Amino acid sequence: MTNVIYNTATTLSGFIADDDNSLDWLFVVEQPEDNSFGPFLEGVGALVMGSTTYEWVYTHEGLDEHPEKWRDSYAERPAFVFTTRELPVPDGLDIRLVQGAVSDHFGEIAEAAGDGDVWVVGGGDLAGQFYEAGQLDEIRLSIAPVTLESGAPVLPRRIEADALHLKSAHVEGQFVHAHYEVRYPRP
Ligand SMILES: NC(=O)c1ccc[n+]([C@@H]2O[C@H](COP(=O)([O-])OP(=O)(O)OC[C@H]3O[C@@H](n4cnc5c(N)ncnc54)[C@H](OP(=O)(O)O)[C@@H]3O)[C@@H](O)[C@H]2O)c1
Repeated sequence: MTNVIYNTATTLSGFIADDDNSLDWLFVVEQPEDNSFGPFLEGVGALVMGSTTYEWVYTHEGLDEHPEKWRDSYAERPAFVFTTRELPVPDGLDIRLVQGAVSDHFGEIAEAAGDGDVWVVGGGDLAGQFYEAGQLDEIRLSIAPVTLESGAPVLPRRIEADALHLKSAHVEGQFVHAHYEVRYPRP
């Protein structure tokens, strides 16, 4: 069964990037090589992300000159980028630009994931759109020992304890990895 999983690193103040969309605060935190991300990624059949996240990857990896770096991170998994703009997509990569309601695209996304899960890479508002569409099953947070005063929020929605159930939490180096199941409240 395909699960839709928002999996991201966050500061303990609840930001996934700083005001300049930088992750420099994240990359300096020690993380053991043996962490839960590898097994998680093995189960992923398709990715979704917003355009800011895609543009960050595009620039950070230099995809215009080195498109193969996309495969180093995500292999051949289809990716859906939510955007209202025509963004550059390197030839040969299965990156599909979509726009509008999650529900308009969810069938195609789930089909692309096959037997695997859908990874909502970010940002937080897109994860919120999946939640509102009733299509967010899990939230997995790697909480870094960092605080920021502002930035891109991890999940800018009000979702209370009746809808979030902590399944597990464990230490990974300097991170706490917390795994929540989303349980939609009955009407
Ligand atoms: N800490 C981590 O592990 C981690 C993980 C992921 C991301 N990040 C970072 O966090 C930041 C997230 O940025 P962000 O909050 O701006 O979020 P984002 O989801 O990456 O991008 C938001 C943009 O996506 C487009 N979009 C979103 N929903 C859409 C829809 N339904 N239809 C059409 N377009 C839609 C809109 O831009 P346009 O229409 O103008 O294209 C919107 O402004 C980035 O800097 C990213 O690199 C960090």
